Amino acid sequence: MYLVVSASLSPTSRSRLLAAACAARLTERGETVETLDLRADPLPMCDGAEAYGHPNTVRAAKLVAEAQAVLFAAPVYNYDVNAAAKNLVELTGAAWTGKTVGLLLAAGGHGSYMSAMGLTNSLMLDFRCIVVPRFVYALGEAFGEVAEEEWGVTNDDVARRVIELVDETVRISRALAAD
Ligand SMILES: Cc1cc2nc3c(=O)[nH]c(=O)nc-3n(C[C@H](O)[C@H](O)[C@H](O)COP(=O)(O)O)c2cc1C
Repeated sequence: MYLVVSASLSPTSRSRLLAAACAARLTERGETVETLDLRADPLPMCDGAEAYGHPNTVRAAKLVAEAQAVLFAAPVYNYDVNAAAKNLVELTGAAWTGKTVGLLLAAGGHGSYMSAMGLTNSLMLDFRCIVVPRFVYALGEAFGEVAEEEWGVTNDDVARRVIELVDETVRISRALAAD
Protein backbone atom coordinates (compact mmCIF):
# COMPACT_ATOMS: atom_id res chain seq x y z
CA MET A 1 0.00 0.00 0.00
CA TYR A 2 1.17 3.51 -0.86
CA LEU A 3 0.09 6.39 1.35
CA VAL A 4 -0.58 9.85 -0.06
CA VAL A 5 -0.56 12.60 2.60
CA SER A 6 -2.13 16.01 2.01
CA ALA A 7 -0.99 18.34 4.81
CA SER A 8 -2.74 21.56 3.82
CA LEU A 9 -5.66 22.76 5.94
CA SER A 10 -6.77 25.20 3.23
CA PRO A 11 -10.16 24.62 1.56
CA THR A 12 -8.65 25.66 -1.79
CA SER A 13 -5.32 23.88 -1.38
CA ARG A 14 -2.99 23.45 -4.34
CA SER A 15 -0.80 20.89 -2.66
CA ARG A 16 -3.95 18.77 -2.25
CA LEU A 17 -4.11 18.77 -6.06
CA LEU A 18 -0.52 17.50 -6.14
CA ALA A 19 -1.56 14.75 -3.71
CA ALA A 20 -4.52 13.87 -5.94
CA ALA A 21 -2.21 13.68 -8.96
CA CYS A 22 0.04 11.27 -7.03
CA ALA A 23 -2.93 9.09 -6.09
CA ALA A 24 -4.08 9.06 -9.73
CA ARG A 25 -0.63 7.97 -10.95
CA LEU A 26 -0.37 5.22 -8.34
CA THR A 27 -3.84 3.96 -9.28
CA GLU A 28 -2.89 4.07 -12.96
CA ARG A 29 0.09 1.86 -12.10
CA GLY A 30 -2.21 -0.62 -10.36
CA GLU A 31 -0.97 0.16 -6.85
CA THR A 32 -3.12 0.17 -3.72
CA VAL A 33 -3.48 3.73 -2.42
CA GLU A 34 -4.62 5.16 0.91
CA THR A 35 -4.93 8.89 1.51
CA LEU A 36 -4.48 10.92 4.66
CA ASP A 37 -5.92 14.43 4.29
CA LEU A 38 -5.21 16.55 7.36
CA ARG A 39 -8.06 18.94 6.52
CA ALA A 40 -10.60 16.12 6.28
CA ASP A 41 -9.25 14.23 9.32
CA PRO A 42 -7.60 16.87 11.52
CA LEU A 43 -5.02 15.91 14.09
CA PRO A 44 -4.72 17.41 17.56
CA MET A 45 -1.60 19.46 18.24
CA CYS A 46 1.17 17.26 19.56
CA ASP A 47 1.43 17.70 23.33
CA GLY A 48 3.73 14.74 23.94
CA ALA A 49 0.90 13.11 25.90
CA GLU A 50 -2.85 12.65 25.26
CA ALA A 51 -2.69 13.63 21.59
CA TYR A 52 -1.06 10.28 20.78
CA GLY A 53 -4.28 8.51 21.79
CA HIS A 54 -6.64 10.62 19.63
CA PRO A 55 -8.46 8.33 17.12
CA ASN A 56 -7.22 10.37 14.15
CA THR A 57 -3.64 10.14 15.42
CA VAL A 58 -3.95 6.39 15.87
CA ARG A 59 -5.35 6.03 12.34
CA ALA A 60 -2.64 8.25 10.87
CA ALA A 61 0.14 6.32 12.60
CA LYS A 62 -1.32 3.01 11.36
CA LEU A 63 -1.50 4.28 7.78
CA VAL A 64 2.10 5.50 7.87
CA ALA A 65 3.34 2.30 9.52
CA GLU A 66 1.62 0.07 6.95
CA ALA A 67 2.70 2.08 3.90
CA GLN A 68 5.39 0.78 1.56
CA ALA A 69 6.17 4.42 0.82
CA VAL A 70 4.64 7.83 1.43
CA LEU A 71 3.99 10.65 -1.05
CA PHE A 72 3.84 13.72 1.18
CA ALA A 73 2.28 16.91 -0.24
CA ALA A 74 2.44 20.10 1.84
CA PRO A 75 2.21 23.89 1.58
CA VAL A 76 5.22 26.15 2.10
CA TYR A 77 4.59 28.43 5.06
CA ASN A 78 7.31 30.75 6.34
CA TYR A 79 10.10 29.02 4.40
CA ASP A 80 9.20 25.59 5.76
CA VAL A 81 6.37 23.09 5.42
CA ASN A 82 3.22 24.13 7.26
CA ALA A 83 2.80 23.38 10.96
CA ALA A 84 0.24 20.64 10.27
CA ALA A 85 2.85 18.65 8.32
CA LYS A 86 5.39 18.88 11.12
CA ASN A 87 2.67 18.09 13.66
CA LEU A 88 1.88 14.87 11.77
CA VAL A 89 5.51 13.80 12.03
CA GLU A 90 5.66 14.75 15.72
CA LEU A 91 2.55 12.66 16.44
CA THR A 92 3.44 9.61 14.36
CA GLY A 93 7.28 9.67 14.62
CA ALA A 94 8.37 6.06 14.92
CA ALA A 95 5.84 4.91 12.30
CA TRP A 96 8.06 6.63 9.70
CA THR A 97 11.10 4.49 10.44
CA GLY A 98 12.77 3.36 7.22
CA LYS A 99 10.05 4.64 4.90
CA THR A 100 10.70 5.81 1.38
CA VAL A 101 9.24 9.33 1.12
CA GLY A 102 8.54 11.52 -1.90
CA LEU A 103 7.88 15.21 -1.23
CA LEU A 104 5.69 17.70 -3.10
CA LEU A 105 5.40 21.35 -2.12
CA ALA A 106 3.00 24.10 -3.21
CA ALA A 107 4.50 27.57 -2.77
CA GLY A 108 3.77 31.19 -3.51
CA GLY A 109 7.15 32.08 -5.00
CA HIS A 110 10.37 30.69 -6.44
CA GLY A 111 12.50 31.76 -3.46
CA SER A 112 11.32 29.11 -0.99
CA TYR A 113 12.72 26.19 -2.96
CA MET A 114 14.77 24.93 0.00
CA SER A 115 11.74 24.73 2.28
CA ALA A 116 11.63 20.94 2.13
CA MET A 117 14.97 20.60 3.88
CA GLY A 118 13.82 20.85 7.50
CA LEU A 119 11.31 18.05 6.99
CA THR A 120 13.82 16.09 4.90
CA ASN A 121 16.48 16.30 7.58
CA SER A 122 14.05 15.27 10.29
CA LEU A 123 12.80 12.27 8.31
CA MET A 124 16.33 11.20 7.38
CA LEU A 125 18.11 11.78 10.67
CA ASP A 126 15.34 10.94 13.14
CA PHE A 127 13.67 8.08 11.30
CA ARG A 128 16.22 6.82 8.74
CA CYS A 129 13.79 7.54 5.90
CA ILE A 130 14.98 7.39 2.32
CA VAL A 131 13.83 10.74 0.94
CA VAL A 132 13.67 10.52 -2.85
CA PRO A 133 16.32 12.91 -4.24
CA ARG A 134 13.82 14.53 -6.59
CA PHE A 135 10.86 16.56 -5.46
CA VAL A 136 8.00 18.57 -6.89
CA TYR A 137 7.88 22.29 -6.19
CA ALA A 138 4.88 23.99 -7.75
CA LEU A 139 3.75 27.61 -7.88
CA GLY A 140 0.19 28.84 -8.38
CA GLU A 141 0.41 29.05 -12.16
CA ALA A 142 0.80 25.26 -12.32
CA PHE A 143 -2.85 24.84 -11.49
CA GLY A 144 -4.59 27.29 -13.80
CA GLU A 145 -7.77 29.25 -13.19
CA VAL A 146 -10.39 26.60 -13.69
CA ALA A 147 -13.75 25.83 -12.12
CA GLU A 148 -13.62 24.04 -8.78
CA GLU A 149 -14.90 20.76 -10.17
CA GLU A 150 -12.07 20.82 -12.75
CA TRP A 151 -9.28 21.68 -10.34
CA GLY A 152 -6.08 19.89 -11.05
CA VAL A 153 -2.47 20.22 -12.16
CA THR A 154 -2.73 22.03 -15.50
CA ASN A 155 0.96 22.64 -16.15
CA ASP A 156 2.46 19.85 -18.25
CA ASP A 157 5.92 20.18 -16.70
CA VAL A 158 4.60 19.88 -13.14
CA ALA A 159 2.32 16.99 -14.15
CA ARG A 160 5.36 15.23 -15.67
CA ARG A 161 7.41 15.80 -12.53
CA VAL A 162 4.64 14.34 -10.34
CA ILE A 163 4.69 11.21 -12.49
CA GLU A 164 8.50 11.01 -12.29
CA LEU A 165 8.41 11.42 -8.52
CA VAL A 166 5.75 8.73 -8.05
CA ASP A 167 7.54 6.32 -10.38
CA GLU A 168 10.88 6.90 -8.66
CA THR A 169 9.31 6.49 -5.21
CA VAL A 170 7.78 3.17 -6.25
CA ARG A 171 11.06 2.02 -7.82
CA ILE A 172 13.13 2.80 -4.72
CA SER A 173 10.64 1.39 -2.25
CA ARG A 174 10.37 -1.84 -4.27
CA ALA A 175 14.14 -2.18 -4.44
CA LEU A 176 14.38 -1.74 -0.67
CA ALA A 177 11.53 -4.21 -0.05
CA ALA A 178 13.25 -6.81 -2.25
CA ASP A 179 16.57 -6.48 -0.44
C1 LIG B 1 0.98 31.73 6.45
C2 LIG B 1 1.53 31.60 5.07
C3 LIG B 1 2.89 31.61 4.89
C4 LIG B 1 3.42 31.46 3.60
N1 LIG B 1 4.77 31.46 3.45
C5 LIG B 1 5.29 31.26 2.22
C6 LIG B 1 6.70 31.21 2.03
O1 LIG B 1 7.49 31.34 2.96
N2 LIG B 1 7.17 30.99 0.78
C7 LIG B 1 6.34 30.84 -0.31
O2 LIG B 1 6.83 30.64 -1.42
N3 LIG B 1 4.99 30.88 -0.15
C8 LIG B 1 4.44 31.07 1.07
N4 LIG B 1 3.08 31.10 1.23
C9 LIG B 1 2.22 30.84 0.05
C10 LIG B 1 1.77 29.36 0.04
O3 LIG B 1 2.89 28.48 0.00
C11 LIG B 1 0.88 29.08 -1.16
O4 LIG B 1 -0.32 29.81 -1.01
C12 LIG B 1 0.56 27.59 -1.33
O5 LIG B 1 -0.34 27.43 -2.40
C13 LIG B 1 -0.04 27.01 -0.06
O6 LIG B 1 -0.31 25.62 -0.22
P1 LIG B 1 -1.81 25.09 -0.28
O7 LIG B 1 -2.47 25.80 -1.43
O8 LIG B 1 -1.68 23.63 -0.52
O9 LIG B 1 -2.47 25.38 1.03
C14 LIG B 1 2.55 31.28 2.50
C15 LIG B 1 1.16 31.27 2.70
C16 LIG B 1 0.66 31.43 3.97
C17 LIG B 1 -0.85 31.39 4.16
